[in-house]
Amino acid sequence: MDKILILDFGSQYTQLIARRVRELGVYCEIHPYSLPPERVKSFDPKGIILSGSPASVYQPDAPMCHREVIEQGLPILGICYGMGVIGSFHGAGTVRAARREYGRAALAIDDPSDLFAGLANGLVVWMSHGDKLAEMPRDFRCLAHTANSLFAAIRHNERPHYAVQFHPEVAHTDKGKEILGNFLFRICGCAPGWEMRSYAEVAIEKIQSQVGDGRVLCALSGGVDSSVTAVLVHRAIGPRLTCVFVDNGLLRKGEAAQVRRTFGEHLGLNLISVEAQERFLTKLKGIIDPEEKRKIIGAEFIAVFQEESQRLGRCRYLAQGTLYPDVIESVSVKGPSVTIKSHHNVGGLPERIDFELVEPLRELFKDEVRALGKELGLPDQILRRQPFPGPGLAVRIVGEVTAERLALLREADAIVEEEISAANLGDELWQAFAVLLPIKTVGVMGDERTYEHVIAVRAVTSLDGMTADWARLPHDLLQAIGSRIVSEIKGVNRVVYDISSKPPSTIEWE
Ligand code: XMP
Repeated sequence: MDKILILDFGSQYTQLIARRVRELGVYCEIHPYSLPPERVKSFDPKGIILSGSPASVYQPDAPMCHREVIEQGLPILGICYGMGVIGSFHGAGTVRAARREYGRAALAIDDPSDLFAGLANGLVVWMSHGDKLAEMPRDFRCLAHTANSLFAAIRHNERPHYAVQFHPEVAHTDKGKEILGNFLFRICGCAPGWEMRSYAEVAIEKIQSQVGDGRVLCALSGGVDSSVTAVLVHRAIGPRLTCVFVDNGLLRKGEAAQVRRTFGEHLGLNLISVEAQERFLTKLKGIIDPEEKRKIIGAEFIAVFQEESQRLGRCRYLAQGTLYPDVIESVSVKGPSVTIKSHHNVGGLPERIDFELVEPLRELFKDEVRALGKELGLPDQILRRQPFPGPGLAVRIVGEVTAERLALLREADAIVEEEISAANLGDELWQAFAVLLPIKTVGVMGDERTYEHVIAVRAVTSLDGMTADWARLPHDLLQAIGSRIVSEIKGVNRVVYDISSKPPSTIEWE
């Protein structure tokens, strides 16, 4: 199988490069820029892509790959900072640009042969750089320019060394995928042959070689990520995987039973289901502060998990469904990608317990995980589930969490879900759920005055959960949700719809 090596110099976009290459059907791996030449040789790529970086080539400690890697004779494409790297190996310096270029630029193609073959002039490309080549490197020529960048794309006259100042991997670049495709197919001579099936095979082999004959524990929540992780690890090592499902009492209606049925009965996983509802409720008694709730739930989860793992005897490995977006925001993938912020999915568990981590989804995006899950035969019901926060319904009850409030919210939430799926809108929404506001308002039912709780309905569209907009649900649908909640749930006499976007609000209420 033809492979591409991506050397990561720390750009936020490195993983996007990998994603595009894979979408083009070519297997690739991301490695740190400092990968030794022998490792590059043994990986045996058809070509190398050098990523961008937040660093500057002229900094004293600037990340640089080994000269031998550049001189192995393989096709190389340097992107942004990667252009500076290629330039520096070919005797051209990099300088701070007089004007930082950020955003769109029109690309004038000077040489429509290999890299830009089949592409029209005037493509809009995405620039994001503060540095530029001071001069054309020795024996290079220009392939394209923009108003601000004389050398927007260059190539060596004899060697297959290419560099672009813009980012072909981002969605804002017109035909970026075609440009990368030209590099892969025309320049490197790759044949597309990689698909999710092969990813599953490679991932299974990797798990087998990491774990050997060891035993693995997996915290299964029933969400997409942990489910795909569990099934993948199960394929790799069978009964040496034990999944622990903690029913914390903060789950949605029917959720615990569904997880037990799907994974224990249908998929035949070794599943230990821990009934911990009481423990969590006791710990949450009287707690109102959202952060305190989250911390208590996190700590209690770790306590339950630790007890189970001790009961099971020594498991050296812990499987986690960490995804790339969790990683890119917290730490670097395999190289020096800069830290932006820490995220709730990473950290906590592994630091507190002495396990070696098995994270087979660490380099995948959510939609790729769904495709992988489909490949592994997971039911749609699991794969199309909405994101659900670790602290569960506790962060959807404003104020104290009690068994009564949970029961009430669970019913309201089920109605929202039923009506959204009856209207066939599930796939268009990032999330749709109910929130319990335990304030009381006055209503009238029959001839009687009521004084009961409020349910807020939250439905949002989003690409990644980082920003979101409230969904413009049809009024008839809102009407159906509202009237069902008030008439079917005792204790609620009012329903409101949340029309806040993120930012400034968040998706969850707590
Ligand atoms: P917010 O409320 O921050 O949520 O806008 C963004 C997305 O993250 C989900 N979320 C969580 N997911 N553990 C998780 O795994 C958590 O503690 C957590 N809190 C929020 C939320 O449902 C939304 O999709």
